[in-house]
Amino acid sequence: MRIIVGITGGIAAYKAPELVRLLKKAGHEVRCAATEHALEFVTRVTLETVSGAPLYSNLFASGRTEHISLKDWGEILVVAPATANIIGKVAGGIADDALSTLLLAFSQKPVIMAPAMNCEMWAHPAVQRNVALLKSWGIRMVGPEEGELACGVNGVGRMAEPEQIVDAVCQSESLKLKGERWLVTAGPTYERIDSVRFIGNYSSGKMGFALAEALAKQGADVELVTGPTYLNVSNCQHINVHRVESAREMYAAATEAFPRCQGAILSAAVADYRPAECADHKLKKQGDEGMTLQLVQNPDILATLGGMKRESQRLVGFALETDHELENAQGKLKRKNLDYIVMNSLRDKGAGFGTDTNKVTILAADGSRKESPLLSKKEVAEMIVQEVTS
Ligand code: PMT
Repeated sequence: MRIIVGITGGIAAYKAPELVRLLKKAGHEVRCAATEHALEFVTRVTLETVSGAPLYSNLFASGRTEHISLKDWGEILVVAPATANIIGKVAGGIADDALSTLLLAFSQKPVIMAPAMNCEMWAHPAVQRNVALLKSWGIRMVGPEEGELACGVNGVGRMAEPEQIVDAVCQSESLKLKGERWLVTAGPTYERIDSVRFIGNYSSGKMGFALAEALAKQGADVELVTGPTYLNVSNCQHINVHRVESAREMYAAATEAFPRCQGAILSAAVADYRPAECADHKLKKQGDEGMTLQLVQNPDILATLGGMKRESQRLVGFALETDHELENAQGKLKRKNLDYIVMNSLRDKGAGFGTDTNKVTILAADGSRKESPLLSKKEVAEMIVQEVTS
């Protein structure tokens, strides 16, 4: 891989040349970027010698947009050591020197940070808040470790050893779905009756959002097409959220994205029918009689993707059942040309709509079957991703 090692101004900067040496020994190409303060601890000559490439430390030195060309060159950026200052700058979107500018430009690529600082600085709520924010954007933290710190006290704040940082880089390289794009549908659809009413269902989007996060965790880029929900994704670096309202809008977004994807998991609870007509004003009550609403069928997104599916693509559907569960799910698996179907039954307590848990049976086209106990939706999502991508 082409790796950029970013170095900031902490005593642990003395370990950066060793990190560069180990990465090069593992067969990677390395370039270094350092802050002005880092160069108080480790010299330009050392970093240029071990990396075999010019050091990037001055935003204006070459008079070009070097942060952009370096961003285009690098496949991963490892900041070691990462001080409270650089963590705070990234959290606040500040780009006032070479490394912080490069870090902001690197927002679509993987970043690993190895924080190092005094233990009380590390424990400060501002630092903890910033670290949590960076993690929610998909930035990986390695360490810090507990041990003796430069100031002589013992505590959490030591930079992880270079070997540990190299392991983290290797892990991110071996992510199973790196370079793949997956489509996920989530949530309910709303089918308008008039300007204030709709036909909907109880789907919260939790299952679909957990699936998107589980795929992204394995390195995939995810197109998440969701119906109305209050949920947000935490890994916004790798999950592209398309918010839609109706089945027809979901159909348009999903059929547009699917040809660009290696696979799709459709967990949305899509309304099978919509009102034949939608009034552009609030319908008024008329007399004491009831009211008849005429419904027409919505397109079946899953069946359409089943028809479009290329040999190399994997297509996974869900089946929400209340009776004859396995038989019904099996029927959908065949009819819609799927590779897998994930059945959940409303007869299982804690499964289905709105809950934080689910219990599923994954049926494969080859006849094999895997059941889960009642687990969190996050765990169920990880199990599904593991099953359908192996
Ligand atoms: O969102 P949560 O609150 O976490 O709840 C999760 C869930 C219960 C919604 C989820 O686990 C689930 O079961 N999703 C599928 C619900 C459903 O509509 O099942 P179905 O058996 O009616 O549909 C079968 C499959 O066809 C599903 O993959 C569905 O997305 C798809 N479909 C259905 C109709 C349609 N017009 N287009 C579709 O793509």
